[in-house]
Amino acid sequence: MRQDVMNRQAIEERLAQIDLTLPPPENEPDRQYYFMKKLRGWVSEKKKELGRPLYANITTFGCQMNARDSEKIAGIMQMLGYEETDSEKADFILYNTCTVRENANLKVYGRLGQLKSAKQENPGMVIALCGCMMQEKQVVEKIKKSYRNVDIIFGTHNIFKLAELLSRKIFDSPQDSEMVIDIWEGTAEIVEELPNERKYPFKSGVNIMFGCNNFCSYCIVPYVRGRERSREPEDILAEISCMVKDGVKEVMLLGQNVNSYGKTLEKPVSFAELLRRTEQIEGLERIRFMTSHPKDLSDELIEVMGNSKKICRQLHLPLQSGSSRLLKIMNRHYSKEDYLLLVEKIRRAVPDISLTTDIIVGFPGETEEDFAETMDVVERVRYDSAFTFIYSKRTGTPAASMEEQVPEDIVKERFDRLLARIQDISAEKTAEAVGSVCEVLVEEVNKREASLVTGRTDKNQIVHFPGSPDLIGTFVKVRLVSAKGFYFIGEQTE
Ligand code: SAH
Ligand code: SF4
Ligand code: F3S
Repeated sequence: MRQDVMNRQAIEERLAQIDLTLPPPENEPDRQYYFMKKLRGWVSEKKKELGRPLYANITTFGCQMNARDSEKIAGIMQMLGYEETDSEKADFILYNTCTVRENANLKVYGRLGQLKSAKQENPGMVIALCGCMMQEKQVVEKIKKSYRNVDIIFGTHNIFKLAELLSRKIFDSPQDSEMVIDIWEGTAEIVEELPNERKYPFKSGVNIMFGCNNFCSYCIVPYVRGRERSREPEDILAEISCMVKDGVKEVMLLGQNVNSYGKTLEKPVSFAELLRRTEQIEGLERIRFMTSHPKDLSDELIEVMGNSKKICRQLHLPLQSGSSRLLKIMNRHYSKEDYLLLVEKIRRAVPDISLTTDIIVGFPGETEEDFAETMDVVERVRYDSAFTFIYSKRTGTPAASMEEQVPEDIVKERFDRLLARIQDISAEKTAEAVGSVCEVLVEEVNKREASLVTGRTDKNQIVHFPGSPDLIGTFVKVRLVSAKGFYFIGEQTE
């Protein structure tokens, strides 16, 4: 993990100015730096007492938004003096949860159950839960009742407060007593300039906006992530420039609907404009973004993508369903025809672009005809790959109370049919690419075969090829020699 946003020295200077004999400041982020400094002293004492480091274990469920939030949490834990570990034999355990589908919730309950014995072995262990699931009242009630070993619960709106909440647990709340629970219903606040980490030195996600205003009728995200709010372009560009100085070559701009970026700013800025300005950052080589809602994908954006040297030839464009009738009930604001037209326009501007998508099978009322429309779009677009989901009923969303929920066996049969077709097309497309030469950003030594390194093309295809670890973080020209499932085996050409 690597520290970014503010370099370590800037953070140290900020901490040095904090006076712990005074009460905590009211303004953010200074207030958090106050608690970080206080906890840092405690961590250092604790290490001496135990004669070993204190370990933090962070598990992330869900999407890239959660992954980025976890990097912020990791940044704070590192500042406090914790060492990160993959093992759950740790002093601080955090699950950053997702609730987009029911099975995401079930995983968390399962893991919490398993932690019971670990906490008996290490009573000083602090168990914290955050993320989207925690924004649901019934979830927090269940945890309060059935998982008493949890120490801290916070939500999606106040991640920046982790140091303060941990201080409350450590200094104010005696062990084994009350859980520290702090869930906000929503916020317009965006706190900048907190410590941050990233998984790879050479690439990183960057939040450009938070929340969602779309209320697709099946989706819980707007309820748990709040209203859409964008970061100021200057803050985003400064963060990316800082990362680039620190070795980042590729960024992924993140938002639930990046195409509506900037609309809520005092001085509105379009997403296309943000991309134009990001492109000008010297030293930055690749730009990706997700997720793009088809209803807001503008001609201006297509033009920017067509002319750009840095925006990758890759677009994730969630379809959800090919049936215009269902798309209306899903509240998606586009029809099958609109979607196909959009794909045509994009392909005209960026030939050979890699298109990926999300599809839900078994939305309430889905008939065989509706499903056939989805299969038809899949045939016509020929996605490079797609995430397929079985519809999951989410309490509080309009679709949950719709009649005509589709029987499980019918959904399963349709799901299998769709998946098989998507996999076949995907394999065909991968085979077509064999023989071509692409630029690969090398990410790591292959996990199974140490003589190989693994990286990604600008189309986000995974390539394994013989190479040494010093290639990591560099761009290498690679010929795609063979296709194996969804990935390639390649060889260096120069
Ligand atoms: N903001 C993104 C999606 C975030 S959720 C967008 O609009 O594309 C990621 C994916 O989860 C969605 O695209 C959708 O396909 C799926 N999803 C959301 N709610 C779901 C539900 N209730 N059941 C099944 N899949 C769902
Ligand atoms: Fe959910 Fe729709 Fe918002 Fe995506 S755009 S997060 S699917 S409500
Ligand atoms: Fe899940 Fe929350 Fe992302 S519900 S998909 S982690 S926004």
